[in-house]
Amino acid sequence: MSVMYLRGGRPLEGELTVHGAKNSVLPILAACLLARGTVTLRNCPRLTDVDAALGILRRLGCRAQQERHTITVDPTGALGSTISEEQMRAMRSSIIFLGPLLARMGEAHLTYPGGCELGPRPIDLHLSAIRAMGCEVSEDRGIHCQGRPLGGEVQLSMPSVGATENAMLCAVGASKITTITNAAREPEIGDLQNFLNSLGAHVRGAGSSTIIVEGGRELSGGEFSVMGDRIVAATLLSATAAAGGRVRLRGVDWRHLATVMSVFHQAGCRVESKLEHVELERDRETPLKGVPTIRTAPYPGFPTDAQAPVMAALAASQGCTLFVETMFDSRYRHVPELIRMGADITTEGRVALVRGVERLHGARVEASDLRGGGALAAAALGAEGATVLSGLNHIDRGYEGLEDMLRTLGADVERREE
Ligand code: UD1
Repeated sequence: MSVMYLRGGRPLEGELTVHGAKNSVLPILAACLLARGTVTLRNCPRLTDVDAALGILRRLGCRAQQERHTITVDPTGALGSTISEEQMRAMRSSIIFLGPLLARMGEAHLTYPGGCELGPRPIDLHLSAIRAMGCEVSEDRGIHCQGRPLGGEVQLSMPSVGATENAMLCAVGASKITTITNAAREPEIGDLQNFLNSLGAHVRGAGSSTIIVEGGRELSGGEFSVMGDRIVAATLLSATAAAGGRVRLRGVDWRHLATVMSVFHQAGCRVESKLEHVELERDRETPLKGVPTIRTAPYPGFPTDAQAPVMAALAASQGCTLFVETMFDSRYRHVPELIRMGADITTEGRVALVRGVERLHGARVEASDLRGGGALAAAALGAEGATVLSGLNHIDRGYEGLEDMLRTLGADVERREE
């Protein structure tokens, strides 16, 4: 079993370019199914979730390969319309292939992605969006969808990121215009729109809650560079806030980190947001301060994916911080592990009260979800002594070489076999 061995007590110092965004590259890979030529994608992170998406593309008949941070997809031979149960289970985001499969093949057969570490994750909004575009959906022993999308009015009852992306991807292959209302506004949706338009699609409105897709245009092949990962950046900033020091991150848009930077500013860090970088500095002699309630919300609110890393930093602080997780049911699975490290946190339902302690201490802890894993690594670097972190399979889904990134910033961390 691989574990991460982290020794706290060293400040983080230096500069790093953040890798490409998992939540952007996954829908973009699904979108490649719609192209009529080879697509070259740059700045693609090497992640197990990306491997899973490439596996699905290959099973559907595409040629797809990753070399370092470049992925090439030749979708011209794709003829499959079935995603196996195993592939659906391997990654919840597999559901994002539904829209493009219908647009390309006029049918799609898959299974429920099932629950995940964050609690039940329904796909009702994805399916109602597909129905609203004129496709038939049957939920009898799996999900079977038939019919080429016509387009129409898609009204989402909640701004789901995945359902917005699925609707956009299906709508690109529709014969008419589609209007998606109450769309999610996450920056990765803007990246997907830019990618689709670079291949010749007509999509507008991403970033607002109404997205309009003019379907019926044939998409060419092309080249695109994936945006940087704001959640990886938030994790590295949390680690710096926990350990102290000064870190400058490039490759991410500061506007996408505004809420996270504002929390660290209130906690007593010096923060700088520039066009070309974000920077955070924390004097090790001055403890962090508790901050007013952090409530997760759809973008541009505080990202649910940054909740765990930021909590890890604030676990050692002066004062209390209340967290309210409004997006997912089981998003406090890092809390018992932080408590093992000496944190004083109580949870009730979707609320967590963090009473700051002077310092955390190293312990054997286990990541049970992706961002919770990033959070435990951040906590370990601010803690006294050594932490042995297991559950790295979760971390490798969304952080490319987390230990290498942290080591570049001066952390004492390595991956070991136990
Ligand atoms: C995406 C991100 C994930 C992030 C989340 C919220 C990707 C690959 N993943 O996940 O990292 O944590 O956005 O920012 O981009 N819901 C329904 N029915 C549905 C779909 C969603 O009820 O059909 C609910 C979910 O249970 C959840 C909320 O809507 O409570 C938001 O989920 P959603 O935005 O869909 O998250 P994902 O797209 O799965």
